[in-house]
Amino acid sequence: VVLTGAGVSTESGIPDFRSPTGIWAQFDPLEYASLEAFRSDPAKVWSFYAPRFAMLTEAEPNAAHRVLAELERRGLVRAVVTQNIDLLHERAGSCEVVEVHGSIRSSSCLACGARYPLQEVVAQLESRPAPICPQCEAVLKPDVVFFGELLPVAAIDRAYALAGDAELLLVVGSALEVWPVAELPLVTRRAGGSVAIVNRGSTALDGDADLKIDGSAGETLESVLAALG
Ligand code: APR
Repeated sequence: VVLTGAGVSTESGIPDFRSPTGIWAQFDPLEYASLEAFRSDPAKVWSFYAPRFAMLTEAEPNAAHRVLAELERRGLVRAVVTQNIDLLHERAGSCEVVEVHGSIRSSSCLACGARYPLQEVVAQLESRPAPICPQCEAVLKPDVVFFGELLPVAAIDRAYALAGDAELLLVVGSALEVWPVAELPLVTRRAGGSVAIVNRGSTALDGDADLKIDGSAGETLESVLAALG
């Protein structure tokens, strides 16, 4: 089972969050990515998300995403649990993808519950700063997990089950700073599995890993595929 974070998408041109050039070095997550911020000023939250939606929809999967899809095809990867909202694993061909922090696939109206696909939101953003619900004119919320919001129950339950069953949990491109997802490698170890981490720089669980490779996700995963022959 593979657990990915923003570090698997930086080679697609999408900045991560906590490296020195990361997004949280420029934006305060509580001001732009918390449920409270959205409720008090949805237009301000969309001033952060609108350019992000454009960047994510224009990005292409990179070698890391492609290798993980190939490893799934070879029956070596059972699923990818991702913290990313960019849909790049699916676009690279991975079938079993568990999105524990939601995704840009849809946005919802908190007033009437209606859910709208990405293309509807992107179309509206061409002519307005924030997408609104065609039915009740409330500002739509991206279906991504904001700080202060519960994770999608089915996704997180599945992630825990996969981690508990995994012979190896391979972490790629995550600082493992955000809970409960950061607990998944410990779930695997407690169940007798092994943990390997591929990450540029340290992570919060380096001490718990059986193997740590400090390097680029794309390059390292391509070497893994080459080594498997
Ligand atoms: N190859 C390998 N590692 C990389 C690469 C790369 N090309 N680029 C960046 N990294 C590393 C960074 O050094 C960093 O340690 O990936 C890690 C990314 O960590 P974060 O930026 O914290 O991203 P992530 O772990 O996904 O954050 C978890 O926090 O803000 C929330 O919801 C958001 O899902 C996100 C969650």
